[in-house]
Amino acid sequence: MATWDEVDGALERAWAFEDMAKAAQAAQRIAALCDTLDHHADVSFGWGHLTVRTTTHDAGHTVTEKDHALAEGVNALMEGIAEGFRKHVFVCTHERAEGAQRPSCGRRGSMELMMALKRSAKAMGLEGIRVQKSGCLDRCEEGPSAVVYPEATWWTLPTQVEEAAALAERLR
Ligand code: FES
Repeated sequence: MATWDEVDGALERAWAFEDMAKAAQAAQRIAALCDTLDHHADVSFGWGHLTVRTTTHDAGHTVTEKDHALAEGVNALMEGIAEGFRKHVFVCTHERAEGAQRPSCGRRGSMELMMALKRSAKAMGLEGIRVQKSGCLDRCEEGPSAVVYPEATWWTLPTQVEEAAALAERLR
């Protein structure tokens, strides 16, 4: 399965690994991601393979924004593992319509903040760092929100571009 498929009210995707130990390591990092997002997928693995299946039980076992956010996070995590990133920063750039019930990071300028952080990390010559956008991380009220792996550390970004760029120091 090269991408996520919707199967019986869940998103599902499988990956191939060269052995079982690497699949187990990936499963452990996915578990940490699930804890961080407070949304728990079923993860199964064996020799050379791993499968993730996510559904929202509270919504009657259907696929919701939470599953898409988790799927996006797992994709990035797997990409990071494959490319050997030392740190991986996900910045929420989700934008809700004006007047929506919950605030959104996109409306607080998170795209610009993410770009500033990315440029700053590059200018500092930091190796093995990936800064990228993500969907809603469900910390909308605290936003602009970001999460840094592998430690799964939450950041609330300052709203000034220069201050957000300075956070790259923490990625050393
Ligand atoms: S909109 Fe950014 S965490 Fe929800």
